[in-house]
Amino acid sequence: MSFIVAIDGPAGSGKGSITKIIAEKMNLSSIDTGAMYRCVTLYVLRKGIDPKDSKSIIDVLDEIDIVLDEENKKVFLNKEDVTNEIRSIEVTNNVSLVSAIKEVRIKLVELQRKVAKDKDIIMEGRDITTVVFPNADVKIYLDASVEERAKRRFKQNQENGIESSFEELLESIKTRDYNDMHKEFGALVRAEDAIYIDSSDLTINQVVDKIIKIIKEKKKEIKINEDVYKEKPDGWFKTLQLNLVRKFMMIFFYIPVYRIKSVHKERVPKEGAYIICANHVNMLDALAVVCSNKRKVRFVCKHSMFKNKKFAWALKSADTIPIDRDKNDIEAMKRILKGLKQGDLLGIFPEGTRKGMEKNMKAKNGAAFFALKSGVKVIPLGIQGSFKPFTKVRLVYGEPLDFSEYHGKEKDKDALDEVTDIIMSNIVKLTNEGK
Ligand code: DC
Repeated sequence: MSFIVAIDGPAGSGKGSITKIIAEKMNLSSIDTGAMYRCVTLYVLRKGIDPKDSKSIIDVLDEIDIVLDEENKKVFLNKEDVTNEIRSIEVTNNVSLVSAIKEVRIKLVELQRKVAKDKDIIMEGRDITTVVFPNADVKIYLDASVEERAKRRFKQNQENGIESSFEELLESIKTRDYNDMHKEFGALVRAEDAIYIDSSDLTINQVVDKIIKIIKEKKKEIKINEDVYKEKPDGWFKTLQLNLVRKFMMIFFYIPVYRIKSVHKERVPKEGAYIICANHVNMLDALAVVCSNKRKVRFVCKHSMFKNKKFAWALKSADTIPIDRDKNDIEAMKRILKGLKQGDLLGIFPEGTRKGMEKNMKAKNGAAFFALKSGVKVIPLGIQGSFKPFTKVRLVYGEPLDFSEYHGKEKDKDALDEVTDIIMSNIVKLTNEGK
């Protein structure tokens, strides 16, 4: 898996220098996509092709080979070092015309994706956060006022002994902004989910620090997510861990604080695949079911529940399956079906959310889907109580529900709705039983 930082922004926003510093500090490969468009422009100009003549440009595209040598910070066009030449005024003045051609963009976007493959990279340009890598791990839009950008270029030119007038630079940047933002393909737009940084009043180092902080936070988040999805192999240590968690939590927490009691526990068979479906009243209920059962109950839980390390440790000891409800979590679905196939006892909250019943929310069809796809029986469970400290909690199990007549109908919406209704009405009955 590669880690991708994408930075877009207008000319002179400092992307280039900032990207290079961050690449070095964070050990990332840096890719300047503007240099690629500049290479094509240089080739076109050298061939004497009018930069407005898109047809002729498209015809010579196959003759162009671009290599960015990151180590030596050099750019090669057909094996020739053109690092300095691509920065000439002539190239700069014509690059927006060339970079507006769809075929040029298709070729270079493909090249950009290719050079980034399987690498940890930081890539800067105009369309990196929107077209090249819309799913980049970190997306930044780096901006600065036109005046500030012209000032920076003016100073840069002075330092390099290049004569230029501030007014001319200002006008040139304005024109480039307009061209960059009004291209039909690959225009510079601010991606909705990109982090916006205005560097007008910031030094390069301040911007670098800001972005590095964002990258570090993202890496930390990825690491936590990876840990959530990492499954420990079965063995004596895991069994011991689960037994300890169950005993400890029952003796020191669930019994003294909630006087937790299981009713009709015998309705949970000692072996074989079953799905326990319960009402969801509190974040402590899944673990209560896990700890009060002799069999390992593998709950399907929101992956955010794993963010708390101590809680995650307990959940993981029971092979709890993390699920990301904001996306179609294929990984979770695979684990659930695999678990049922190997005879696991699964736990699902059909309500999806806590206190869904109280809020009058329609239960989700997830539990029904797995029951119909796997042909496994559902054990309804009514959780009585609110998990307010020192109030009673009762876990009332129902008889297993057999949905074999619906087996294989997991794609039939009516069948799913019907089964969900049956499961939920059984749960509701159990939440009232013996009251
Ligand atoms: O970042 P730069 O000034 O070197 O970019 C040169 C030109 O290339 C600029 O006018 C915009 C264009 N460009 C682009 O269209 N898409 C990119 N991803 C990068 C640059």
